[in-house]
Amino acid sequence: MTDAVATENSEGLSLVPIRLEMRAITKRFGGVHALEDVKFHARAGEVHSLCGENGAGKSTLMKILAGAITDFQGEIVLNGKTVAFRGPKDAEDAGVRIIHQELNLVPDLTVASNIFLGREMTTSLGLVDDRAMEKRARAMFERLGAPIDPRAHVGDLRIGDQQMVEIAKALMFDAAILIMDEPTSAISDSEVARLFRVINDLRKAGTTIIYISHKMNEVFTLSDSVTVLRDGRFVASASRTECDAAQVVRWMVGREIAGLSFQPHEKTGETVVSVENLSLPSQPGRPSLSDLSFSVRAGEIVGVAGLLGAGRTELLEALFGASSSTPSGTIRLGGEVVKFRRPDQAIAAGVALVTEDRKTLGLFTEMTVAENISLARLGEFKNRGLVSKRAEGNAVAQSIVDLSIKTAGGRAAITSLSGGNQQKCIIARWLLTEPKLLLLDEPTRGIDVGAKAEIYALIRRLADEGMAILMTSSELPELLTVSDRILVLCEGRLTAEIPRAQATEETIMDAATQFLDRVSA
Ligand SMILES: Nc1ncnc2c1ncn2[C@@H]1O[C@H](COP(=O)(O)OP(=O)(O)OP(=O)(O)O)[C@@H](O)[C@H]1O
Ligand SMILES: [Mg+2]
Repeated sequence: MTDAVATENSEGLSLVPIRLEMRAITKRFGGVHALEDVKFHARAGEVHSLCGENGAGKSTLMKILAGAITDFQGEIVLNGKTVAFRGPKDAEDAGVRIIHQELNLVPDLTVASNIFLGREMTTSLGLVDDRAMEKRARAMFERLGAPIDPRAHVGDLRIGDQQMVEIAKALMFDAAILIMDEPTSAISDSEVARLFRVINDLRKAGTTIIYISHKMNEVFTLSDSVTVLRDGRFVASASRTECDAAQVVRWMVGREIAGLSFQPHEKTGETVVSVENLSLPSQPGRPSLSDLSFSVRAGEIVGVAGLLGAGRTELLEALFGASSSTPSGTIRLGGEVVKFRRPDQAIAAGVALVTEDRKTLGLFTEMTVAENISLARLGEFKNRGLVSKRAEGNAVAQSIVDLSIKTAGGRAAITSLSGGNQQKCIIARWLLTEPKLLLLDEPTRGIDVGAKAEIYALIRRLADEGMAILMTSSELPELLTVSDRILVLCEGRLTAEIPRAQATEETIMDAATQFLDRVSA
């Protein structure tokens, strides 16, 4: 964690007029106090970060500001005038735009139609002008450095591109206040860099940007000010020159978090999975895999590093029988050759996959917390065809404790949980299947610093109990903390296999860009 760096933007900020004030905001969902007497203010031309642990109330506060939640107590003052939004459209008309944490796009519509939804451009005859909208969308993607086709259907895009569409949608209309709720959780480093440049341009032009992220380096690269919430209450608000990352984390969690470190494990058990010459033919828009060979032993955590598009997700999907095309090569599980054509076959053989895209692949939004957690093991809770609610309830209650899931209880709707707590439910679901091989794809995306430490400790404990774990992450410090060994992929090929003792961010990045360098050289 780095110290705060003073910037020119922070100087004299207090002279800039306050554009937004939220006063005494209280919001309850049933018995849950999501927000209690919270205040927040932001000025013109600043990036103001909103920090807090999972479930602290960040998204709820911003949904209130964006008109997505209208029944609350308190007051919103914009440019000195009290406003009362009846819905998102009112907020947009007042210049407030939001990029939602859980993407809010219509999968069956094109990218351009999503961006202009409800604000379609029309021809002089009053007809919807698709060409004009596509042209403006294309220009926006150019500015964002994202090669996305405005005519593609949103449902066909990978999650990172969907996030770029959501960003483009918010940027398309000039906003006085732009709310970004974890905008970078699924996009690549180069896309993040572009986005930050756009954010800086907007700040210079006077836009107020409210930025939510669990990544402290982003918060301290971008912000002029920081406000921290804890358990639905206001804790502190400070300009960046008055605080540093360690201070913000202390405000967030109300205690010191010990830096985590685990000894890499040299002594491990027998080989759980071994892969020889695994290849996956290329598919439109998806990376291929070529000729991968490696193995993972019981008790071992193997990290998979690589840039976006290197094939990390594809590798895990191939091991889980979830590839969109047929892989070739040999996969052995516990010494036996397996050929999974469907995930249920992999699950039956003791393989579990925690996916990166919780909304479309992992969560069942109509169901309760308990149902989402027990889903993969429902068969075992069934007794003569009836689900044993008691067995299910006990297992779920234990998971809620083990993973510190913040919820009113198993019967709560899954959608009532904050984003990070939803992610923990998916991890809990797969842990209940007690897999031999646990595949984790970006397991801590959207998870706060304190809960991340809990999840690392949990992963380590599972490995110590004999599970073999293969885990991807785009955060190198994370891989360097938990992995015993790191595989590096570049363009679907294995370019390095590095024991943790020798692994550094540099050695990994070198291997992750190996072929790319040659291409550009
Ligand atoms: N629709 C809802 N129904 C019931 N409870 C809700 C609802 N939305 C949020 N909550 C609860 O309100 C609290 C605050 O949630 P919120 O989503 O604002 O947290 P957050 O700070 O954005 O967390 P994260 O970092 O995980 O996204 C949580 O306890 C959550 O469970
Ligand atoms: Mg949130």
